Formats: sequence, structure tokens, C-alpha cells
Amino acid sequence: MNLTARERLILSLDFEEKQAALDMLDELKGEIVYCKVGLQLFTKYGISLLHEIKDKGFRLFLDLKFHDIPNTVASAIKSLNSIEVDLLNIHAMCGFEGLKLAKETLQNLHPKSKLIAVTVLTSLNNELLSQMGIPVKSEELVLQLCKVTQNAGLDGVVCSAQEVQNIKNTLGKDFLAVCPGIRRATDDVNDQKRIVTPSQAIQNGADWIVVGRPIIKAPSPGTEARLIITEIEKGMQND
Ligand code: C5P
Repeated sequence: MNLTARERLILSLDFEEKQAALDMLDELKGEIVYCKVGLQLFTKYGISLLHEIKDKGFRLFLDLKFHDIPNTVASAIKSLNSIEVDLLNIHAMCGFEGLKLAKETLQNLHPKSKLIAVTVLTSLNNELLSQMGIPVKSEELVLQLCKVTQNAGLDGVVCSAQEVQNIKNTLGKDFLAVCPGIRRATDDVNDQKRIVTPSQAIQNGADWIVVGRPIIKAPSPGTEARLIITEIEKGMQND
């Protein structure tokens, strides 16, 4: 994919109120072209908020991490018929059949939209996996779920920028990687555990990076966004 540095930054709109999210987009218009809406805002405001964001001209990653039986997930995707989201995600643990049906359903509805999978939540470690009866190391499980995801025809995965090199080496360069957990060296880490800088993430092979608090909590969100975009450019030069 031939994306500019600006197009590779996804702003995570982690706000309680929609007005705060829309105000942030107005403030960052010209800097930011891509944003992410997650469960918090979607649960409160639904599809109408997505329309407001798209009407402002932004690209949209709808981060709802669907996880249910194939028919239910496909039906939920059909409910997005009025809105073309650019990126949508689903849990890889839905399994091959569910993933395949989800991809086919989205493809029929919005051929340009991309479907990516969440493999293992970054909040889970080996101990928590074993507690749930999954005696596999999380890195192995991530790669195994990536393979299922690719075989089912999906476009890529959400993953840590620390995992992306390994994923690209195994699954190929065209398998898309969307990476959260990004911080510039001087940013607050917040609750993220395994952070990577924007330039390193891009060098590692991330197609998009997702950034929330470093931008939305910054004294000058525009300045922070510009610094991150400059770092992405640097990463692209060493790509
Ligand atoms: O504020 P911050 O940059 O940490 O925000 C990252 C965003 O990416 C949040 O919306 C978070 O829920 C999301 N995310 C993540 N790690 C994952 C998947 C999603 O941080 N593995």
C-alpha cells in the first residue's frame, strides 16, 4: 500500500463524550486523516457518530472487536450497511468459519473496507492463558491465529509493534499490521506495557500506528501529532 506518513497515523478517539471527540477532530483537521472509534463512544452514540466523523472527511477504524458465532457477527457487519468504515476488527478466536464469513460479508457490503483480527489481547500473558486452559505461549498463539486469519482471507491483524517483524516474516509483507502501544521517547507510558516509538514501529513493518493519549492529552495536540508524523517519515526512510 502506498500511504503517506500522515495516512499511517490513526488517532484513537478515547473520549467519554462525543463533542470532545468531534472538537479534537476539528482541532486536528489537516494533521490527522485517520481516527479510531472504540467500544466506549460507540456504545453511547452508535452509528450516527460514525456518520458525523465520516462527514467531516476522516477515515475511520471501527474498533469493536467482534466476538460471537459466525451468523451473529455477519449480521452485525450487515448493520454497518449505511456506513463505509475503512478498517474493522474481529477476534481471531471466532475461528476460521466465522472469520471467513465476516470477511465475505464486509467485502459484499463495502469492497474497499479492510477486516483485521485481534489475536491475543495484550492484557493477557502466559499465566492468564494457562489459567484459561490454553497451555501455549502467547507469541506462538499469536502466530497460529495470524495463520488462521490469513487463510480465512482477512487483510491483517492488530498487534504490538514488537511482534510485527515476526508476523511479517511468517505471513508476508502484504499481511497488514495495525499497531497500538506507541510512544515517543519523551511521552508518558501510561498503562501500556510494551511500547515502541513511531519510527521504530514503522521500521519494524507496521502499516498503521494507533496513538491516543500522547496526542489527545497533550497541551498542544497538533504539535504532538506533527512530531509523531515526522517520526513516521523517518521510519519510512529506513523502511
Ligand atoms: O492512549 P493509547 O495510545 O495507549 O491508546 C491506544 C489505543 O489502542 C486504545 O484505544 C487502546 O484500547 C487500543 N489498543 C491497545 N492495545 C491493543 C489493542 C487496542 O492499546 N492490543
